[in-house]
Parts: sequence; structure tokens; C-alpha cells
Amino acid sequence: MALSLSTSFDIFSCSPQNSRAIAVPVPRTRATYSPDQRRPYEPFGAALTLWRERGSEVLLSGPAGTGKSRACLEKLNAICIRWAGARALIVRKTRESLTESALVTLEEKVVPKGWSLLQGAKRRVRQSYQYPNGSEIIVGGLDKPSKVMSTEYDIIYVQEAIELFENDWESLTTRLRNGVVPFQQLIADTNPDGPRHWLYQRCQAGKTIVLESRHEDNPVLWERTTNEWTSVGLEYIRKLEGLTGVRKPRLRYGKWIQAEGAVYDDWDRQKHLVDRFDIPASWRRIRAIDFGYSNPFVCLWIAIDDDGRMYVYRELYRTRRTVKSHAGEIHRLSGEERYEFTVADHDAEDRATLLENGIGTISANKAVSPGIEAVQERLKTAGDGKPRLFVLRDSLADRDEELIDAKKPCSIIEEFDGYAWSRGTDGKPVKEDPVKVNDHALDALRYATMAVDHKLPSLESPEIRESRERAQAEELEIQWRDINADHWWQS
Ligand SMILES: Nc1ncnc2c1ncn2[C@@H]1O[C@H](COP(=O)(O)OP(=O)(O)OP(=O)(O)O)[C@@H](O)[C@H]1O
Ligand SMILES: [Mg+2]
Repeated sequence: MALSLSTSFDIFSCSPQNSRAIAVPVPRTRATYSPDQRRPYEPFGAALTLWRERGSEVLLSGPAGTGKSRACLEKLNAICIRWAGARALIVRKTRESLTESALVTLEEKVVPKGWSLLQGAKRRVRQSYQYPNGSEIIVGGLDKPSKVMSTEYDIIYVQEAIELFENDWESLTTRLRNGVVPFQQLIADTNPDGPRHWLYQRCQAGKTIVLESRHEDNPVLWERTTNEWTSVGLEYIRKLEGLTGVRKPRLRYGKWIQAEGAVYDDWDRQKHLVDRFDIPASWRRIRAIDFGYSNPFVCLWIAIDDDGRMYVYRELYRTRRTVKSHAGEIHRLSGEERYEFTVADHDAEDRATLLENGIGTISANKAVSPGIEAVQERLKTAGDGKPRLFVLRDSLADRDEELIDAKKPCSIIEEFDGYAWSRGTDGKPVKEDPVKVNDHALDALRYATMAVDHKLPSLESPEIRESRERAQAEELEIQWRDINADHWWQS
């Protein structure tokens, strides 16, 4: 027999203690399903407030793992079940980044088991989920804005909203006019960034309602009957307590805080992180490697445009693999590309293994302070209004499960935020001496920047360079003497 109630907690006929409950007419065609298809869910804390909230812009902000994404997805699903013909959007800065995040939770935890809407296109290429009552969840990325913006919605869920620009956000609000659901709403979740971030400022200005999500809101982590951490919760919180730098206040306590004594304080996701584009064939390309086994092994692929701007466009960031297996992966990812050079950390044995496996490297200039200064210089906005260093979104080849689990940085973007100067006995940052943790991709970047900006020790022997320069001079001389050359006729 089919049930007409979608979740164990009915969103719209809220519980009696909900004094702010809004009476909403029940539509004629609720989607139905049988008891064995049911996936129970009950929201707590900020997730419960989100469930009832009807404001036009609502943000669930909080530390890692509090249940923010689950709450947003449950609300979307419940709305689609309840209002036939509802249109919802799940969106993130890039479509690619939804595949292994929101869509996994939606398919495995939220949508009733065995529903036909789960059949059809694979998760990676899926564009929508069709409900039996005509409701639909569209899936999109702001890297292809025309697809997302060409239609109208009742509810939009933005995952990891700090990745967006404010104009992305404002454009999305204009798409909320499908009118099937009695309220139209943009909901979003995020871990915090710094207090200068536009999203924090928007919440402070009262334009967006912000709900503070806490670990105690997640019943997987917190046992409400005894007011204690569950065993999973204890282990999870222990990991978060072990975080370093600015990641700890943000991911453990949900604070919008800037790294104190940040080495790269000019780093700004809004400025330095850019959408992917096809790199022109004429641009120079290099690679930079920092070795590691328990710590990540990092390889950065960097393109350099005609004005000398650097773009990190691909990244390998992996623990617990041999150098030989990394070499295979680097070849696979590099394909037919050609590089001016590959610069690597000094480890002789690891460099020899790379060489045996077809990757010749030059030795990095590891001077820390000049290297940091070179990167800092590139992060600054130049006279033309642009910095000279960018990272392309979704550059990471694949995410290291072990690092995700340990809540450690999984990519260069995540390292930038927490890289800070160590502190002297007086508590002040010691500028010369960065804390040597979570700096693997940043080390590789430093080697690359030094190699590009401060010229490598020449790879040519002095004799070869001399003969090359002599040949070039002779060639110029011949061109000069040519009586048909233009220069004879120029005033
Ligand atoms: N009310 C709930 N009932 C059952 N499971 C829940 C509940 N809330 C969250 N969870 C589970 O806890 C886990 C973490 O939830 P979720 O991914 O939504 O957290 P998050 O706050 O979005 O994390 P992050 O900050 O890392 O993005 C998921 O497996 C989710 O299904
Ligand atoms: Mg989440």
C-alpha cells in the first residue's frame, strides 16, 4: 500500500511546538511511495529552523559535517514530493563538483529508495531528476550559467555558497518565479570563510538570513537523549580538534575568521580562483613537484600566458603512493602536452625514480623567503587590475579519501587559507618562518615561481651557450646585410 507522507518529519504541517508554523494548502498530487522505500529523516537545531523558514534567502553556515547539505537536500526533495510540478535547482560553482558531493547524498540518502527518477543518466552527466508527479530537480553549475539561468524555479539550493560571486547569487535570485510552491526561496550552505567575504557581509547587512548550524544538530554525531557525542561523533570531533591554522576555527567552530599572520594574506578565492578555459597551445607550460608519501606528493601543472601570468590548471595531490605510480599518473594526465621544464624538490632518489620513469626534472631553488616573496608579489593586483597568479577551478585530478577523512587540505586552494607564519615567544608572527604544515602544494608553487621569475640555473653548458649565441649573432648580421631587408628603407 502506498503512503502519502514523504518523510518521517512532515515539513509543512510542522510539529505543535512550532509556533511559527504556516498553514499551507495540501496540493492534489503529492507523490506517493511504499513504506519500504522510505528513508527516515528528522531535522534538528538550525536544520529544523531551515525547514520552517520561508524567507527569500537563507544560509546554513557552520563547521564541517553538521548536516547542512543533507538538510537542504531533504527540503528540496520534500517540496518536490508535496507540490506537483515544482521546479528545484541544485547548483554549485561548477557542475563537476556536485557529482561526488550533493548528488551522492541526494541519491543515496534522500530520494525514496528504488524510485525511477534515479534511473537513467549517470550521476556525472545527469541534468535533472524527474519526480512521478511532474516535479523536477535540475542540476547545474555556474560554469555553464546559460543552462542554469534559462529557466525558472520555486526553490534553489546553492551548495558551498562561498565559492560564488555575489553577482552569481543575485542572478540566481531573479530565477525564483515558478510560482507552483507558495513560497519561493534560495537556500544555501557553506563552511565559513573570512569576515571580508561578500556572503558574510550580505548576512550582516540583513539581506540573507543566516542560520548557525552546529555539530549537535547532527544525530550521527550527537546523541540527544543522553546529551553526549556518539562514538562516531567523538572520533570526528577529535579530528577537527587536531586541525591547524585557520581551518580549526572555521571547520570545528564555524567561525568566519581570517588566518592570523597568514603568509599569503592577499590570496582571495574571489580573485585568484577562475573558471576553466582552454589554454592556448602557444602558452608556455611547466610542472612543479613536491615529494611525499605520508604527506601528500604534489604535482602542479602551470601554464604561463604571453604577459607572464601563471595559471595552475591541473593538480595531483596524493598520499601513500610510490613515486613510480605517481610517474605513471603524471604521464596519463599530461597526455600529449609539452613542458618547458619540470622543477622538483631535491630528493635525489625520488628524482632518479622519476627520471627512470621518463620524467626528467631540474632541481628547485628552495630559498624560503625569496620564494614566498615571489609568490606574494604575484598574488598582488598589478597595474592592469589583475594578479599574476591564478588557479583554475576543479584543477584537482582526484580527491584523496584519507585526507578528506582527516579533514586535511586536499588541494592547493585549501592550503592557501591556513598557511601562516610561526609565532615567537611574544606571540607575534615571525616573518621569515612559516609553519611547516599543510604546505606541500604551496612548496611546489614556490619552486615553480622561483624557476619562472628568478631564472633557473642555465641547463646549457657555457660552451654550448656561447656557440648558440654566436650562431644567433651571425644570423642577425646576415639579415642586416640583406639589401632587400625593410630597414634600409625606413627613416
Ligand atoms: N538529521 C540527520 N539524520 C541522519 N543523518 C544525518 C542528519 N544530518 C546529517 N546527517 C548525516 O551526517 C553526514 C554529514 O552531513 P552533511 O554532509 O549534510 O554535513 P555538512 O554540514 O554538509 O558537511 P560539510 O560541512 O562537510 O559540507 C551525512 O552522512 C548525513 O547524511
Ligand atoms: Mg556539505
